[in-house]
Amino acid sequence: MAFAEDELRAAFLRHVCQTSPEPLGIVVRQARGTKIWDSDGREYLDLLAGMGVANVGHAHPVVCKAIAEQVGAYLHVSVYGEMVQEPQVALARRLAMVAPGDLSVVYFTNSGTEAVEGALKTARKYTGRSRIISFEGAFHGDTFGALSVGGNPLYQHPFEPLLPDVEVLPFDDPPALARIDASTAAVILEPIQGEGGVRIPSDGFLPRLRQRCSEVGALLIADEVITGFGRTGTLFACTQWNVTPDILVVAKALGGGLPLGAFIGRPEVMRTLSHDPPLAHVTTFGGHPVCCAAGLAALDVLLRERLPERAARVGADWLATLRALTAGLPCSVRGRGLLMALEFASPEATRRFVTRCLEGGLILNWTLHRDTVVRMAPPLTITEEEIAQANAVLADALALL
Ligand SMILES: Cc1ncc(COP(=O)(O)O)c(C=O)c1O
Repeated sequence: MAFAEDELRAAFLRHVCQTSPEPLGIVVRQARGTKIWDSDGREYLDLLAGMGVANVGHAHPVVCKAIAEQVGAYLHVSVYGEMVQEPQVALARRLAMVAPGDLSVVYFTNSGTEAVEGALKTARKYTGRSRIISFEGAFHGDTFGALSVGGNPLYQHPFEPLLPDVEVLPFDDPPALARIDASTAAVILEPIQGEGGVRIPSDGFLPRLRQRCSEVGALLIADEVITGFGRTGTLFACTQWNVTPDILVVAKALGGGLPLGAFIGRPEVMRTLSHDPPLAHVTTFGGHPVCCAAGLAALDVLLRERLPERAARVGADWLATLRALTAGLPCSVRGRGLLMALEFASPEATRRFVTRCLEGGLILNWTLHRDTVVRMAPPLTITEEEIAQANAVLADALALL
């Protein structure tokens, strides 16, 4: 390395814009599968999967090979939608095959928040309406539009004024859905809230929401940036309630470790971006060929190795173990597939738990909007041995409660 470790850490704090008062600060040397090694050779189990990205594990060899092959052919060649780039076309076609219902047209972005922006713009233009509904506790990203439909005022106030005509409803509260009316362009939700504390709605909520949107002609946007690509036991979480959104937003695991997002809709909805005026929603790098090649390889691995089914099975077993480990303790557990949460009695207890886990080599953290909820969302490839290793550390950290 060009830096001595102390120098590297100091330069990180000084020159890389800091957004957290206490960054993890692990100096990364290598990452493979569920494991990350630091510059001292210390091994960590990444129970956050690079924050929901490494569903097929860090640096999967099939993904790395696809990246290398694409790098050998071409990198960026042109702005979005002008040239026919095979990795982009192949991934779009593959997504159309696996997306629910007739969601078959894909717009690629560089990130989740950009995909949310595109989905919101598409909904407004398609419906000719302006009102957007979202839910308390939601997180959809940090650009202005996505922040405007976020569900935590703490993160919104410093940046106001935000997008007008947004209403935030309580999550998982069917009577509140009556607020969705014929002036509503779109309703955006995470089928299971991630940063809101791994909140799983009751079974009737999503179908009722789908029905209400259809009744009034509002588009339903499902943000599956966290829940997508097998995380909750099916490729997309909304299908667990037999719900097909009008627009599906994906990112994170989509790129297999490279930056990629997308919003996917029916042809007639997505066609709205091609006229009046044309070129009204463009991007330079969205759908980068190397990212799409990586995404295609990751999706192939995910499906070939049946990782969504594995997440359902392994997650259910792990949840049962966590229930046993926490029995009688001031800590509750919940989860769906390999998106699990431990909820503690206080932020202090949560912090103690996370610190002890980190000392024991587990990377996990509390969620952005709930400082008493620790999320566990490892790669879907995590081995039984790694789970046993993690459980030993978790048990030790729970003993501190
Ligand atoms: C549900 C959800 N939507 C959108 C985003 C924003 O994605 P990105 O960070 O790629 O912009 C996130 C990020 O964590 C997310 O959890």
